[in-house]
Amino acid sequence: MAGFRLVAPCLLGLEGLVAEELRDMGAQEVAAENGRVSCAYSPEMTARANIRSRYAERVLVELGHFEAKSFEALFQGVKALPWTAFLSRNDAFPVRGRCLSSALMSVPDCQSIVKKAVVEAMRQRWDMERFPEDGPKYQIQFLLMRDTVSVMLDASGAALHKRGYRKNSTEAPIKETLAAAMAKLARVRPDGTVFDPFCGSGTMLIEAAMLAMHVAPGVRRHFAAEQWRQIPGGVWEAERAAARALENRESGFRAFGADIDPEAVELARENIRKAGLSKWIEVETRDVRDFQSDAPYGCVLTNPPYGERLLDRETAAELYRVLGRVVPKRRGWSCTVISPEERFESIFGQKADKKRKLYNGMIRCDVYQYFRWAEHSGNGGKRGV
Ligand SMILES: C[S@@+](CC[C@H](N)C(=O)[O-])C[C@H]1O[C@@H](n2cnc3c(N)ncnc32)[C@H](O)[C@@H]1O
Repeated sequence: MAGFRLVAPCLLGLEGLVAEELRDMGAQEVAAENGRVSCAYSPEMTARANIRSRYAERVLVELGHFEAKSFEALFQGVKALPWTAFLSRNDAFPVRGRCLSSALMSVPDCQSIVKKAVVEAMRQRWDMERFPEDGPKYQIQFLLMRDTVSVMLDASGAALHKRGYRKNSTEAPIKETLAAAMAKLARVRPDGTVFDPFCGSGTMLIEAAMLAMHVAPGVRRHFAAEQWRQIPGGVWEAERAAARALENRESGFRAFGADIDPEAVELARENIRKAGLSKWIEVETRDVRDFQSDAPYGCVLTNPPYGERLLDRETAAELYRVLGRVVPKRRGWSCTVISPEERFESIFGQKADKKRKLYNGMIRCDVYQYFRWAEHSGNGGKRGV
């Protein structure tokens, strides 16, 4: 299996965090590109990255990549890949893919060429006319970008943001991978206290708690590659046990969430229970206008309403203004907010200490971070923008 690579696609802007977490897991030859990070393949690392990654969208095994400007080049290139290192005569091998900025831009045509090429490679090995495809599933995924095609097998199945705790969500839930990234950027500590005054279905609180207590996000779910012969059950068991051994639930971490919508609070409570975190996270129905805390330290981590239409934008802006007023501006406190609103800092009433561009799906957002209150406390924590 030497020579294969693992590929972890991620939201734009999270490549650095994915590379760092893979290195921390012991991955070798880690390389970050736009929207994806790769490292050397091993069965252990495939299981480990699926179980432990907080920021990647999925984990795939890349069989190879090559230039393909014509269907013939695509067919011959795919056929030449070492399929039989993974696929056996009964395995299912459906194909999906994407074409971006390339000579070949028809996804259905490319899908059918890739399928034909794999069938051809399989025929040469097993001398069979038809393949039953009633065995374990090896989902083939190709990415054709600027005339280079990367051909991969999806080891995750359901995307990694599907941790298993959020069957229920409010109207605008933040993606789990993005919430985890925000918690990481906010440097949530094992003994920290997190506040989300717009908690919705509770994603930010749950991801912050899992990060703080080193709970691996995938430890309770299953993955497509658990059916693969190349990664035996013992590998998954060992990796789950190793991930559990890293958990630290005695650290003193706490989180508090609030939302004006009682139904959202009920959903959050249910999701927190499903994540097994009720002991550490409390939620209540409350307007952000009533937010206050006497705690000596805290980390506000939040995803306020966006306001996509003009009228909504003004309502959302009013909430940013309120947030800027109610967040405690004392040493020991920090505030990390994600928003697509370009006027955020002036509405919040203060220039961010750090600002970072991220994509929430297709929406370009900024993460605004405030943590240097003490230096400005003579001014009530306020700074001009
Ligand atoms: C973008 S959603 C947050 C989604 C959340 N991060 C999640 O993953 O489900 C914004 C939330 O703000 C809440 N909200 C709106 N106005 C509010 C107010 N005045 N006070 C508190 N919460 C409010 C909405 O009910 C909604 O759940």
